[in-house]
Amino acid sequence: MAAHNGKPLIIVGNGEIASMAYEYFVHDSVYEPVGFAIGRDYISSETFEGLPLVDLAEVEAVFPPGKVTAFVAIGDSQLNRIRAHHYAMMKSKGYALASYVSSRAFVWHNVQIGENCFILEGNTLQAFVVIGNNVTLWSGNHIGHRSMIEDHVFITSQVVISGFCTVGRNSFIGVNAAVANNVAIAQDNYIGMSASITASTEPNLIYQGNPAEPRKIPATRFCRVKGG
Ligand SMILES: CC(C)(COP(=O)(O)OP(=O)(O)OC[C@H]1O[C@@H](n2cnc3c(N)ncnc32)[C@H](O)[C@@H]1OP(=O)(O)O)[C@@H](O)C(=O)NCCC(=O)NCCS
Repeated sequence: MAAHNGKPLIIVGNGEIASMAYEYFVHDSVYEPVGFAIGRDYISSETFEGLPLVDLAEVEAVFPPGKVTAFVAIGDSQLNRIRAHHYAMMKSKGYALASYVSSRAFVWHNVQIGENCFILEGNTLQAFVVIGNNVTLWSGNHIGHRSMIEDHVFITSQVVISGFCTVGRNSFIGVNAAVANNVAIAQDNYIGMSASITASTEPNLIYQGNPAEPRKIPATRFCRVKGG
């Protein structure tokens, strides 16, 4: 591998999220993307963003885990299961996983952030917030004091999570939703845009409206989770 100025980074994905990850890592991190990887079935060109695009089955041979850090740049499809699957795969291959935290996010000194997180501009993370692994916080969310976001969650934009809340693993929260203090969003929830959540929720449901009500269809079926 050629010499690099930043810490070399392999990005998993070749869609819009991967393109955004490339932008943010190049312009606002200590990492330097050196290539992309995705399953063979999704490869239609040899390069992506001008860098080599390699088959995930062969990624270790081209970009060895001891020399390159990885970042899985995949969205919320199948209620975050595709991203969770690739996150686990890269860990099992022995890669260290980077998190991106925008220099334009407000992150209090005692906030904990796991690996493979993607935290964009304008997010506010208040004191004692805990962010798990493989969490995406798109732009401009408020995560209130002492709240916890569990693994594989995707929070879109302009969402308010008040203090002392929990967001359960795999859940998705649509734009402009509001969550009252001391509320636990269960795992596998799909919270619709502008939903107003005033009480804790049940697992695997879609909530929408103000005040939010659950729909009858399970969130995993709505999101076409395989086996869900
Ligand atoms: C909740 C959601 C998934 C529903 O999608 P859907 O099932 O395709 O919804 P439909 O358009 O078929 O609407 C079904 C009904 O729910 C209502 N509805 C849909 N979304 C709603 C929402 N967010 N809040 C309140 N009511 C909603 C519709 O008005 C419709 O009501 P009706 O049956 O009385 O006409 C979708 O509206 C949503 O919020 N998606 C998230 C968008 C988002 O945040 N994207 C972020 C991109 S990064």
